[in-house]
Amino acid sequence: MIEPNTIYFVGSGPGDPELITLKAKKLLENADVVVYSGSLLNPKLLEFAKKDATLHDAALLDRTKIYEILRDSTKQGKLAIRFHDGDPALFSTIREQIDKLNLDGINCKVVPGITAILGAASSLNLELTLPGITQTLIITRAELRTPVPEGERISNLATHGATMAFYLSVHLIRNIVDELIKGGSYQTSTPAAVVYRATWEDEKIIVGTLGDIVDKVREAKITKTAIIIVGNVINPTSYEFSKVYDPQFTHGYRKADKSK
Ligand SMILES: C[S@@+](CC[C@H](N)C(=O)[O-])C[C@H]1O[C@@H](n2cnc3c(N)ncnc32)[C@H](O)[C@@H]1O
Repeated sequence: MIEPNTIYFVGSGPGDPELITLKAKKLLENADVVVYSGSLLNPKLLEFAKKDATLHDAALLDRTKIYEILRDSTKQGKLAIRFHDGDPALFSTIREQIDKLNLDGINCKVVPGITAILGAASSLNLELTLPGITQTLIITRAELRTPVPEGERISNLATHGATMAFYLSVHLIRNIVDELIKGGSYQTSTPAAVVYRATWEDEKIIVGTLGDIVDKVREAKITKTAIIIVGNVINPTSYEFSKVYDPQFTHGYRKADKSK
């Protein structure tokens, strides 16, 4: 049910219009006002909006203007949605928007979407948490104009040897590789992949190692809208099979078959 006096923060998914959720599509089809992240979101998704909906590209607006459009439309009884690329919980600006709208007595709800790392992993047929290699995924970004807390230096995070995913950072890939190797758990032979516009029609996939990924990305002229994935889950030489489907493993739904 679409609730009154409520602004929905809706995830669009990574790009392929078929990867939007049914809930997000329904909200788009009913929205009177859509403020969308035009720099990243697939414009084909906007075809789901009502013919007479008012569409605003957030890339052309500052936070005050975005806030005023959402607040004023809702106060007028209209259904307004803030349409974010990927999932609204990652590298978006929903906290500051929701807090301010709540202070004005407007409810906010979040509708999740498939985030870019999961779109990229699907394009590579990857299991990001592969038994025998790692059970951890670290999602982060390189630092430039947006500061990253001291304890989250890439070289610190890199000590774990987990799968790592970098958003917003492909233009800084040289620094990332240097920091990862400084961390001590990755070598120049560690696999790395870059997926540009994952799940879009013009998606580009580059697979290499920390030793050659910088040159490969430069050759492909990828400078934005890409995810970097690092770790041995890419092209694994060996890994373990999961316990869950092991015939000799008993769990809550199945008894072990000792004959196998
Ligand atoms: C501001 S962040 C938003 C992330 C978004 N909230 C999400 O969950 O995917 C933008 C960054 O996400 C990544 N990104 C977004 N869509 C992507 C896609 N289809 N393929 C690869 N990277 C993408 C890029 O690293 C880009 O610089």
